[in-house]
Amino acid sequence: MPTPWWFSHAAALELPGEVGALSLGALWNLNEGLRFVRDNVAPAALAQDALASADATARWSAFVSREGQVLRALTAATAFEVAAIRGGGRPAARFRAHWEALGFVAHLTRDGTPADDYLDALFGTSRLSFLSSDSPLANVNLASRASRVADFLAVAAPRVDDVVFDLGSGSGKLALTVAASAVTTVQGVELLESAVAEASLSAVALGLSNVAFARADVRDVDLSRGSVFYQYFPFRGAVASAVAGTLGALARQKDITVYASGPVRDYGEYFAREVDAGALCLEQRRGEFDEVMVLKSERR
Ligand SMILES: C[S@@+](CC[C@H](N)C(=O)[O-])C[C@H]1O[C@@H](n2cnc3c(N)ncnc32)[C@H](O)[C@@H]1O
Repeated sequence: MPTPWWFSHAAALELPGEVGALSLGALWNLNEGLRFVRDNVAPAALAQDALASADATARWSAFVSREGQVLRALTAATAFEVAAIRGGGRPAARFRAHWEALGFVAHLTRDGTPADDYLDALFGTSRLSFLSSDSPLANVNLASRASRVADFLAVAAPRVDDVVFDLGSGSGKLALTVAASAVTTVQGVELLESAVAEASLSAVALGLSNVAFARADVRDVDLSRGSVFYQYFPFRGAVASAVAGTLGALARQKDITVYASGPVRDYGEYFAREVDAGALCLEQRRGEFDEVMVLKSERR
């Protein structure tokens, strides 16, 4: 009988010393690893493992106890950080400097980076989990990566008089991070009711009064008060074409910045169309694969 696969995973997740000493991001990362094992060990298989391997039961109860310890520590660390933000202890510039300084170097064995771990813990942006895949529309971990949020902040530099729209805001990671990192106004628009509820709860918990989330099809929303528009490949085809057309028309009336990430085909091509029509100008392409278009009103 082969050794159950989860033995090595559970062993790799043994606690590195005192759990209470770990940072919020480290606890989140550990919790995600534990969750992966939990989600992938079927109860029936566990019962068979117990019959086949003398120490499977002991290993599993050690794993369950570790899960409890990590969850308690994570809950406490999250509550501490949320209270600090709510209490004004993390003004925008300091908040931004903090998560950006954690860094964007990918973990060797698990998804994510230290900056993502911190932000995902704060907003409860869960990654791959059976809990998040119940809905046929569920997107697994399609929130923007922290490095992309940092790039957006550097490029768009939203100011106090800007209104930043996140078109297709999902669970709110980009919108919440921008709202907490810059003195500006942020509006998320999202089709999925559950995602809007999740993002709105995070905004309230963190006391962020400069961000709001609307449940709507982006085509039905008045975008005219926006000055900066962020999109992380939220739609394609007819919706992308309609949104690019709306932003092109807006760009003829006022100065706007569009930061659009996604493939050229059936998405970026509609923004290129607005460039050809003289509404927007393509200021730069960014990203590892040039997948980001930074566009500005041609009239600037
Ligand atoms: C890739 S996620 C981006 C999440 C978020 N912008 C971020 O960067 O963290 C794209 C989101 O767009 C939403 N979406 C797709 N079509 C939409 C539409 N027509 N109107 C509003 N939201 C839409 C999806 O439900 C999904 O949550």
